[in-house]
Amino acid sequence: MKVIASIQDMTRFSQTLRIQNQTIAFVPTMGFLHDGHLTLMKEGKKRADHLVVSIFVNPAQFGPTEDFSTYPRALAQDLEQCRQVGASAVFTPSEAQMYPSGFETYVGLEKLPFHLCGLSRPAFFRGVATVVTKLFNIVRPHYALFGEKDFQQLAVIQRLVRDLNFDIDIVGVPIVREPDGLAMSSRNKYLSPDQRPCALLLHQCLETIEKMVRQGETDAGKLQDQAEKILASVPDMRVDYVSICDPETLEPVPVIAGKVLCAMAVWLGKTRLIDNRVMGPRT
Ligand code: PAF
Repeated sequence: MKVIASIQDMTRFSQTLRIQNQTIAFVPTMGFLHDGHLTLMKEGKKRADHLVVSIFVNPAQFGPTEDFSTYPRALAQDLEQCRQVGASAVFTPSEAQMYPSGFETYVGLEKLPFHLCGLSRPAFFRGVATVVTKLFNIVRPHYALFGEKDFQQLAVIQRLVRDLNFDIDIVGVPIVREPDGLAMSSRNKYLSPDQRPCALLLHQCLETIEKMVRQGETDAGKLQDQAEKILASVPDMRVDYVSICDPETLEPVPVIAGKVLCAMAVWLGKTRLIDNRVMGPRT
């Protein structure tokens, strides 16, 4: 497995593979890899001749008061995991390479970022869209894999690829959960032993809302109220949002007639957690 730190070397590596008619699956990450990432990588290996993983904690997607400096980093351990999965290369660019002095071009979407997480994290999707565009141009993959836990991020990338004519197949991979149901996330590391059981409430809340929808509840307002009531049962938990929305546009849906996305974000102490599920009435 090659560990490639320079943009030129990464592009050269991909170009060589492409000339040999080899396909490339790409998993962009910010490191501190967990089973969710490993699932994306294994899925990538199934689809293409070569797997490339990037590890880059992208400063452009963190707000000024967010956890960029404390975001967990474990490069040696991450590289070992990539090796075990059978990655052909891991791209580990520096911040200076990705954002050299004078950098001023950002990629922004007009609508999708102004829902759900984008409302409380205004810099986030501009930063994600920018870094992913750069990574796509550098790595030049045939496939790129993203987790459905970050449902809005996946929607943004799918839109970006369509709008900017990237010839890349975007693959969404279902949420990977701990045995008790908590969606895997690098930020779960921040949870204290007391907070960890409370974090389960998101998953339990989604189960309850899905059950209500399947039993015929169509009023999204009622479902939202119920979800907020469940989440408010933990004193240390603050709801950022609960949304019942269209899975494509992310626009709120007032009356449920078909498939909807139920997405939520909470603060548990200082840790922000998200979860979601696509659900619909029983047919
Ligand atoms: O999901 C992530 O880890 C990041 O947002 C991504 C896609 C690697 C961009 O920095």
